[in-house]
Amino acid sequence: INYQRAHFVASYGKASQIPPSTCPEVSFVGRSNVGKSSIMNKLFGRKGLVKVSSTPGKTSNVNFFEADGVHFVDLPGYGFARRSKAERDRWAQLIGDFFDLERSFNLVVSLVDIRHDPSALDHQMIAFLQESELPFVVALTKADKLSRGKQNQQLAAIKQQLNVPAEDIIVTSSETGQGIDELKRRIEAACL
Ligand code: GTP
Ligand code: MG
Repeated sequence: INYQRAHFVASYGKASQIPPSTCPEVSFVGRSNVGKSSIMNKLFGRKGLVKVSSTPGKTSNVNFFEADGVHFVDLPGYGFARRSKAERDRWAQLIGDFFDLERSFNLVVSLVDIRHDPSALDHQMIAFLQESELPFVVALTKADKLSRGKQNQQLAAIKQQLNVPAEDIIVTSSETGQGIDELKRRIEAACL
């Protein structure tokens, strides 16, 4: 996949507005602030294409990007504590409806912060992906914030807690680019 010409396609506030898939799709799910938008920018090699913010809840719509005939879908994050119930309900509806759609779900990248044990919502998200038999990989994010030794410790602990096979977990950093080539390989394998 040539990521050089990645571009924004469209943004949707409701799953019912999203047109049917026209090509393979890779979507990004995870807690608010875990680094979904950042990892997409790193894949694309473009700093500002996907909006990033240190304030959780930056992405509130389903945003489609395209690179070389593959769609990349940035989804709003879950688990932002200071969000109102109405906002949390809207999230659940949007994500639930999105994965209910009849789409080309080639790969879901489920992001989990490598520094912490997976939250209840991370567990729910991954259980949902497993039950729905959606193809997914777990990207552990922000690895640059830990030493290599700590990374390996957390990798082992999280692998056990999530009950996901080792080959489906990738240690990543959008700062250093760690794991990005591996993620690209998984995306290629799922889309081509
Ligand atoms: P929402 O849109 O709110 O759901 O968040 P998001 O998952 O898209 O997170 P986003 O990419 O906006 O990143 C949140 C914050 O984490 C920003 O301040 C990023 O700069 C930072 N961040 C993301 N990835 C990394 C990483 O790999 N390393 C470090 N050190 N910081 C990161
Ligand atoms: Mg975002």
